[in-house]
Amino acid sequence: MRIDVVTLFPQMPALIAECGITSRAAKLGLWQLKIWNPRKFTHDAHRTVDDRPFGGGPGMVMMAEPLAQTIDAIRADGNRGRVFAFAPSGRTLCDERVLELAESDEDMILVCGRYEGIDQRFLDTYVDEIISIGDYVLSGGELAAMVLMDAVVRRLPGAIKELSASDESFSTGLLDAPHYTRPEEWRGMKVPEVLVNGHHKHIQDWTRKMALQTTATNRPDLVKIARSKNLLSEEDEK
Ligand code: ADE
Repeated sequence: MRIDVVTLFPQMPALIAECGITSRAAKLGLWQLKIWNPRKFTHDAHRTVDDRPFGGGPGMVMMAEPLAQTIDAIRADGNRGRVFAFAPSGRTLCDERVLELAESDEDMILVCGRYEGIDQRFLDTYVDEIISIGDYVLSGGELAAMVLMDAVVRRLPGAIKELSASDESFSTGLLDAPHYTRPEEWRGMKVPEVLVNGHHKHIQDWTRKMALQTTATNRPDLVKIARSKNLLSEEDEK
C-alpha cells in the first residue's frame, strides 16, 4: 500500500514511518509513505496557501489551487487511490472502516487541512471521503491522518504476528481486559491468581468477565450494541 500525505507540516506524518510497528511494516515493504508540501505548488513570491474566507468570519481558509496541483502531481507520480480529508464534520473513524481500508490494500491520498478549513470547491472535486477521529477540534488534519495511517497499517497482513486482545476487542464488540506482567507482586499488589495459576478455560472466562465489566463501566453504549448483535451469551448477561 502506498500512502501520500499532503501537509504544510511534513515533520508530523514522517514520524509514522520512523516509529514502532508502522516503521517495521515499512521496512518489510508492506507500505510506503510519501509526503508532499502544497507550498511547493504555489507560484507567488510569498508561497501563499491560504486566504481570508468569503462572507467574513475568523481565521483563514486553505486555497483550492495549491492543493489541486499537489494532488495532480501525486496522480502523475502513480498513486491512483482514494483521496481523504480530515475534519470534525466528517464520518467518525471506526474499526470496521479501518479493516476495510487495510484489507482493500488500495493506495490512499491524505489531505491535511490547517486554519479554519479547506475551500469547499477542492473538497467537492478532489476528495472522496472526509474522516473525523472524534468530537473535538484539532489544530489541523495531521494528527487525524497519523491516526488513520497507524490504525490501517498495523492491520495490513503481516504487520503484526498475531492480533492482540485489544485488536480483537472491537470485533468481539467489547473493550480490552486488563493486562499484567512481572513482577508477580508490585508495591503490595498481586497479579490476579487466575492469570498466574489458572487453566486456559478459567483465564478465558476471567478475561471475558473483565472485558464485560470494563465495557459496562466505560462504554455502556457498546454493551447495548453487542447485545443487539447477539454477541453476548446468557453467561455474559449474569
Ligand atoms: N481536524 C480538526 N479536528 C479534527 C477531528 N476531530 N478529526 C479529524 N480531523 C480534524
